[in-house]
Amino acid sequence: MARIALLLLLATIAIATVPFATTTYHFHALKGWINDPNGLIYVDGQHHWFFQLNPDDVVWGNIHWGHAVSTDLLKWTILDNALTPNSTFDANGCWSGGAYLSDNNSTINLLYTCVNAANEQQQCVATSTDGKNFTKSPANPVLPTPANILPNQFRDPQPIFNPTTEAVEGVVIGAGSAQGGLAQFYHINPNATEWTLVGTMMADDDTRDFECPDLIIDGTTGRAAFCVSLEYEGKTHHNGYFLGTWDEGAGSFTPTGDAKRLEHGDMYAPRSYLVDGRRLLVGWLNDEVDSSELVELGYAGAMTVPREVTIDSTGLHQRPADEIAAMLSNTVSGKLAVWGTEPLPISGHALWLELVVAGRGNTTVHVMHDSSLGEDTRVVVNPDMQAVIIERADSSSLALNGTVTTDVVIPASIGSSTGLVILVDGSIVEVFVDETSVGSAHIYPSKANRGGALISAAQSDVRYTVGLLGQGFFIQ
Ligand SMILES: *[C@@H]1O[C@H](CO)[C@@H](O)[C@H](O)[C@H]1NC(C)=O
Ligand SMILES: *[C@@H]1O[C@H](CO)[C@@H](O)[C@H](O)[C@H]1NC(C)=O
Ligand SMILES: *[C@@H]1O[C@H](CO)[C@@H](O)[C@H](O)[C@H]1NC(C)=O
Ligand SMILES: *[C@@H]1O[C@H](CO)[C@@H](O)[C@H](O)[C@H]1NC(C)=O
Ligand SMILES: *[C@@H]1O[C@H](CO)[C@@H](O)[C@H](O)[C@H]1NC(C)=O
Ligand SMILES: *[C@@H]1O[C@H](CO)[C@@H](O)[C@H](O)[C@H]1NC(C)=O
Ligand SMILES: *[C@@H]1O[C@H](CO)[C@@H](O)[C@H](O)[C@H]1NC(C)=O
Repeated sequence: MARIALLLLLATIAIATVPFATTTYHFHALKGWINDPNGLIYVDGQHHWFFQLNPDDVVWGNIHWGHAVSTDLLKWTILDNALTPNSTFDANGCWSGGAYLSDNNSTINLLYTCVNAANEQQQCVATSTDGKNFTKSPANPVLPTPANILPNQFRDPQPIFNPTTEAVEGVVIGAGSAQGGLAQFYHINPNATEWTLVGTMMADDDTRDFECPDLIIDGTTGRAAFCVSLEYEGKTHHNGYFLGTWDEGAGSFTPTGDAKRLEHGDMYAPRSYLVDGRRLLVGWLNDEVDSSELVELGYAGAMTVPREVTIDSTGLHQRPADEIAAMLSNTVSGKLAVWGTEPLPISGHALWLELVVAGRGNTTVHVMHDSSLGEDTRVVVNPDMQAVIIERADSSSLALNGTVTTDVVIPASIGSSTGLVILVDGSIVEVFVDETSVGSAHIYPSKANRGGALISAAQSDVRYTVGLLGQGFFIQ
């Protein structure tokens, strides 16, 4: 019987068909639903990525912490789940949080929001000395919800690290009170059993809460950016950041201006970590189709590629981490004078397109393009709008339930020349404009589409370096 069941299972796997082009180098779960990246940390040459995971379904629910490790951000090993919601204090979920090291870097501590059966959000901790097996602290919950904070709005603890020594300065937690959203900064002892409120980092009465707070500090200039995913009542979730000054002693962050978008597309709930002095940021890309379309695939959601982040006086800058370019193959560089339409000398569905565009009027890059299917995703450099637009209305010829076809508009300063890096990965594109403005989008072209890339313009000069990605990437 067991053998017949196994054969049936294998047969089912073999005939399962995924209706749309899948990705080849964006991190995803092997099975189940993922959302926010959690506890990103680099220890002894190994990247640990944890992530919100429903192991048994392609929709949100029953939230665990999944765990994967990699030495190069390309080859990933999925380990046993780090946190399972099976204690009284986390019966309704092990929600988002961060990681830090203690005991002379020999212990990894995971701080997470433990949601109990009454849906109270408190903070918990789990530790590991082998980097694989995490044990919840007997002192959990280590931080109950304070009286002035709404019990269902107190989450996403994130350690703040001194950018030079990498020592833990404290922990920021996103919160909501009767007045609105705020972020609280605490000092903790090494095993996170003692919490001392230092101050309110920031508050904004127009938001309901501050999700996934994260502070990025430039160790050389002292410039700081406070990243939050803001939940406005009745409005779409937005990932944003404020530039400003961080006062560790007071636990306060003073913004020097309004919130800016961290990216203009599908990314949400990003988190960053230090890797030998570099700051890498990873965000969650929610699938835009209904779960009915994801059942065959068996998993939902992906992470953005890791992005290296820097700060200057104008804001945050992002570009794909060098590890992504390190897997480039079949690279070709050259120049095109475009009067009409010209093909780029590369095709495939996992592409790196690095372009410098100098044109009059629009210059349009067509990716995952298939004229026989009428599929075309357009990345338009539009000087009139001072924006780069990802147009996905014609991206898919499939009648997928729930597909989002709205344009992703990436505001950008389009001058005499514009630098673009376009990452194409089957159903995902990420677009970096002058390392300053970023947008990502799900596009769901049909599987048959092997993609080409074309450029069209009335008159444009384009310098390019293009190549294949995904050859060195795998998840096991
Ligand atoms: C919780 O789940 C983990 C992983 O399956 C298991 O090792 C542990 O024993 C469980 N704990 C309880 C209290 O059931
Ligand atoms: C800390 O760890 C390092 C390397 O793992 C070791 O050489 C050193 O002796 C440790 N220090 C203490 C105080 O344990
Ligand atoms: C722990 O590791 C971090 C970065 O990996 C390093 O900066 C720090 O000096 C280490 N601390 C100790 C006590 O070894
Ligand atoms: C995990 O760690 C706990 C606590 O140290 C220990 O009791 C358990 O045996 C470990 N499990 C594995 C699989 O190593
Ligand atoms: C946490 O560390 C303190 C010392 O800082 C110690 O007294 C306490 O027993 C520890 N608690 C747990 C649960 O490990
Ligand atoms: C430029 O692109 C925009 C879309 O980004 C489009 O609406 C507009 O018609 C285009 N302009 C020209 C002259 O083709
Ligand atoms: C998805 O679309 C198909 C075809 O239009 C329809 O039969 C099915 O009920 C839809 N499923 C959901 C979950 O909406």
